[in-house]
Amino acid sequence: MGQYQRHVFVCTGGKTCTGQDSAATFALLKDRVRDAGLAPHVRVNHSGCLGQCGHGPMVVVYPEDAWYDGVTVEKAERIFTEHLRDGVPVEALLYVAPPGENKLPKV
Ligand code: FES
Repeated sequence: MGQYQRHVFVCTGGKTCTGQDSAATFALLKDRVRDAGLAPHVRVNHSGCLGQCGHGPMVVVYPEDAWYDGVTVEKAERIFTEHLRDGVPVEALLYVAPPGENKLPKV
């Protein structure tokens, strides 16, 4: 048994997600978890590049191994409510891509 029931990583260290306002996504998730009293159970951490550049902001939640792309603050609200609070991954927002690195070509 680990220290947390869920661990959330928000890419705030890579080059493209930062330009897609991943800081706002991180702040929203961190605030909602704290305000709901879930901080002892759900840890929200910054992460560096998750290898999916251009699809961001990228968020991944363990132990479900649920990956979410394009996580605007609106989507983050839903991920918080349905997944982090209620325990059900948001199927409609899941990132679907081949395993491994899926960076979009630079324009
Ligand atoms: S910069 Fe976020 S996945 Fe690469």
